[in-house]
Amino acid sequence: MKRFIGGGAAAFAIVLSIGVTNAAENTAETAPAIYKRANCVGCHKWHGGGGGGYGGAALSLRKTELDKDQIIETVKCGRPGTGMPYFLKDSYPADHSQPPQCFGLSWPDLESMALAQGGVFLKPDEIEAVADYVVTHIKGKGDPDLADCTAFFGEGSSACEVFKKGGHHAMPTPATTD
Ligand code: HEC
Repeated sequence: MKRFIGGGAAAFAIVLSIGVTNAAENTAETAPAIYKRANCVGCHKWHGGGGGGYGGAALSLRKTELDKDQIIETVKCGRPGTGMPYFLKDSYPADHSQPPQCFGLSWPDLESMALAQGGVFLKPDEIEAVADYVVTHIKGKGDPDLADCTAFFGEGSSACEVFKKGGHHAMPTPATTD
């Protein structure tokens, strides 16, 4: 009996250490990497300026007035009835027997509202990291410039060439016919 308990404790210790390793790897993923992996880029663009695309017009995160907690809630819960998906797996419980996490809603309530699921789910600490990134690097910034672009794509990236040419075409724009 004693040996059995000892074995159990050892197995538990192993599980714990694996958990710790994973947590360390997750925090090692940079916030811009999470922003890319969750495809915030796909709708809000790398610079957060938003604009048209699938799912309707994604609001500008550069012009957002939300604070960090409100951004966390938006990413966690999404916005039912808009193109903003939710990114926390357990945001909406199956029924009202479980405590609601978002807007007091559970799955049956959402039937009449469109709500997209993020292409990947994020963990709470990843949501916090990405919200922090939006607040510190995107919110309140003016038009994106070469320094912003280089910070996102890395030094020498061809994606940032357009900013080096300067002038009024400095923002990457869809190709025109002329
Ligand atoms: C499929 C497209 C799509 C993806 C992917 C997406 N968003 Fe959004 N997002 C939207 C749309 C559309 C809105 C506008 C919702 C509305 O009309 O209220 C929005 C709104 C927001 C807002 C609210 C802005 C404000 O001022 O009210 C925040 C913050 C936000 N998104 C952050 C993110 C982050 C961070 C990610 C990645 C984890 C992300 N979004 C991924 C489409 C998307």
